[in-house]
Amino acid sequence: MIAKRAEQIKPFIVMDVLERARAMEHEGINVIHLEVGEPDFDTPQCVKDAACKALEEGHTHYTHSLGNLELREAICKHNFKTYNVSVHPDQIVITSGTSPAMLLIFSVLLEKGDRVIISDPHYACYPNFIRFVQGVPVTVPVYEEDGFQYRPEAIKKRITKKTKAILINSPSNPTGNLLSESRMRAIAEFPPYIISDEIYHGLVYEGKEHSILEFTDNAFVLNGFSKLYAMTGLRLGYLIAPKPFIRPIQKMQQSFFISANSVIQIAAIAALEKAGEDVARMKNIYNERRQYMVKRLKEIGFGITVEPTGAFYVFANAKHISEDSYKLAFDILEESRVGVTPGIDFGNNGEGYLRFSYANSMENIIEGLNRIENYCESHFAGVR
Ligand SMILES: Cc1ncc(COP(=O)(O)O)c(C=O)c1O
Repeated sequence: MIAKRAEQIKPFIVMDVLERARAMEHEGINVIHLEVGEPDFDTPQCVKDAACKALEEGHTHYTHSLGNLELREAICKHNFKTYNVSVHPDQIVITSGTSPAMLLIFSVLLEKGDRVIISDPHYACYPNFIRFVQGVPVTVPVYEEDGFQYRPEAIKKRITKKTKAILINSPSNPTGNLLSESRMRAIAEFPPYIISDEIYHGLVYEGKEHSILEFTDNAFVLNGFSKLYAMTGLRLGYLIAPKPFIRPIQKMQQSFFISANSVIQIAAIAALEKAGEDVARMKNIYNERRQYMVKRLKEIGFGITVEPTGAFYVFANAKHISEDSYKLAFDILEESRVGVTPGIDFGNNGEGYLRFSYANSMENIIEGLNRIENYCESHFAGVR
């Protein structure tokens, strides 16, 4: 009775880890969460104030289906200031998170059997979205020794007439690595479209992130407020698309979602215009945690060939202790009471790795990694 399109959705394993961790907590067990991919910080006060004010002032109605014009203009300003790229407000659609924006982009681009190139490892949900609209995800492996960056020549080999887009995500979930400017420039040349998931932009600790729009107009940008502004639960994101795609996307938005949340759209203007200091504060703290986590994981024996410089993840090689990352993650959870995400959640090429998130306090990171060190010493002493 269940439609194939729903049945084929693969579970998001990190949620399975999280749910088991929550059940343990319910039994009174203390669990350290290094699995979750959401900021531990509170939403900046200026954003909360703007949301409360918008609510008080009665901004509780549907907005324009493309989104609040003032917010779209603020996004254009942000793009110009950050990347020196000019975007028109009519190229932007505000959505209830980056996730619905992804659904809209794949829906407007893909016919049955059309292919989208994604890296392996990749954000776990991408193939679900692509298959849901009858597209075919085509994976291109990326390697630890390259800092998990795409090799443009490997992408080129997988392009066929059916390829509609190449998906990039820099800084990346799960690896925390950036795609270099030169590789991004090379990828931008490939036909027909690049979809660039820029949700971790702003969370870069070394080097500089680039928007795909610096290199080509044949591109779709995905972005949102969840990560940089610690607004995950407030659900707000957006897409930027070439103009001819906007009207079809708008019709889907009108029918499927009507508009994004009115109050949070106003709060998002405050995020873009007033939350700079909060972002800088959070970023400094993430960076301290990143440096500590990388150092400690290496000491414990995990392999990190190229240090991650963005987002809030470390993707560490654990092949010396297990080739079965799913089992390893659950063993660590049961025995050490630390949640980590198995690399297999992010594709076959992620097998043998674990993703550690540093979106948790330094105190918890220290305790969590001490527990993992004890786990490794008691099971795999001498194995490096
Ligand atoms: C790479 C990537 N894209 C998109 C999303 C979804 O973000 P949102 O909360 O805006 O729907 C996530 C969330 O973890 C992510 O890691």
